[in-house]
Amino acid sequence: MASERTVGAKIASTKVPSRDRGEPILSVKDLWIEYVTSRGPVEAVRGATFDLYKGESLALIGESGSGKTTLGLGLVRLLPRAARVSRGRILRMRPEGPFDVLALQNDRLRRYRWEECAMVFQGAQNSLNPVLTVRDQFFDTFRAHRRERSREIEERAAELLRMVQLEPERVLRSYPHELSGGMRQRVLIAMSLLLQPEILILDEPTTALDILTQRAIIDVLRRLKEKLGFATIFVSHDLSLAAELADRVATMYAGRIVELGPVEDIFYRTAHPYTRALLDAVPTVVGGEERLTSIPGSPPDLRNLPSGCAFHPRCSFAIAACRTEYVPMEPVSEEQEVACLRWREFRQLAGAGRTRGNLEGRAGADTARANADGAAT
Ligand SMILES: Nc1ncnc2c1ncn2[C@@H]1O[C@H](COP(=O)(O)OP(=O)(O)OP(=O)(O)O)[C@@H](O)[C@H]1O
Ligand code: SF4
Ligand SMILES: [Mg+2]
Repeated sequence: MASERTVGAKIASTKVPSRDRGEPILSVKDLWIEYVTSRGPVEAVRGATFDLYKGESLALIGESGSGKTTLGLGLVRLLPRAARVSRGRILRMRPEGPFDVLALQNDRLRRYRWEECAMVFQGAQNSLNPVLTVRDQFFDTFRAHRRERSREIEERAAELLRMVQLEPERVLRSYPHELSGGMRQRVLIAMSLLLQPEILILDEPTTALDILTQRAIIDVLRRLKEKLGFATIFVSHDLSLAAELADRVATMYAGRIVELGPVEDIFYRTAHPYTRALLDAVPTVVGGEERLTSIPGSPPDLRNLPSGCAFHPRCSFAIAACRTEYVPMEPVSEEQEVACLRWREFRQLAGAGRTRGNLEGRAGADTARANADGAAT
């Protein structure tokens, strides 16, 4: 059977076309976030600038330590104590006008968090409170925000659990240890949607789950999104997941967004050598004869960044100017932007390539395996 994920058009078919995006619901402008450590500040997010549109999916990709989680936590205003926003703005657009998320305090901040912008944290499956039933955890989340009667809370929790394909009667009275990792992740997704946020940030929503469970979570997310219409920012190391779920992709390197654009452009008309390197590191499971390449070197120490383009020590396209010049983001097209001095030459020489085979072959193999093994977990 032809896999839905092996068909290239599938990547584009459910995307939000740019012309239909309308006004942004969130606008991030030159956002800088640093951790204050005993060895000096660590600038984990450096000048992030992007808009998020109603109902769209924006994938954040990049190696470990590139600042993806820090950016997500910053957007929902849940940064750890050691971190602080040192510069920039996060504007939330509402019908009554925009407001600055960074200026919110107390009740208004609480309402923004979870009612407007919610987050499912990295590794959260293991952070549910082990001594509370799922029902009590749903109630705790709700009570802090609203004073609905318990019957209404229970009905909404049950409806959401059904949407993530769990049996509410059984799951609500369970303790976290009585549920599988996939079930816990679904509970967390349901819980994050309890207050009907317009923006959901998902940090590695399928990591540490087996392949069938990953598939099931992806399907649940897609259905939820179609039904409820929220926008997502999702962080993933799994580029086939990004290809499947994202409308747009942002590549982060050493705290900076270095490429941003529609998923098809990022994967098939790549303009940044680092994005290309990430894509070339995706293994091909079926069909491909091409060589898999790892990215040379390792991500830089954020306390001691290379001058010029921070990627230059690892970039085979680097020229002398890359070591000295500040590299701004510039438009590649109306929709795609990149921070690379040589993106034109790069795109001609190496921007396209084996990615289509990598992502679709890999994704197709996943789905074929899932089909062969039967129903998702
Ligand atoms: N509490 C902290 N104190 C100091 N530095 C931190 C802290 N948390 C993160 N960092 C640093 O900030 C940088 C970005 O970390 P972050 O967790 O945002 O990266 P990430 O892209 O989410 O990585 P991963 O893919 O591994 O989850 C890293 O260099 C990390 O070491
Ligand atoms: S600016 Fe230079 S070093 Fe940086 S990605 Fe482009 S070519 Fe490579
Ligand atoms: Mg992270």
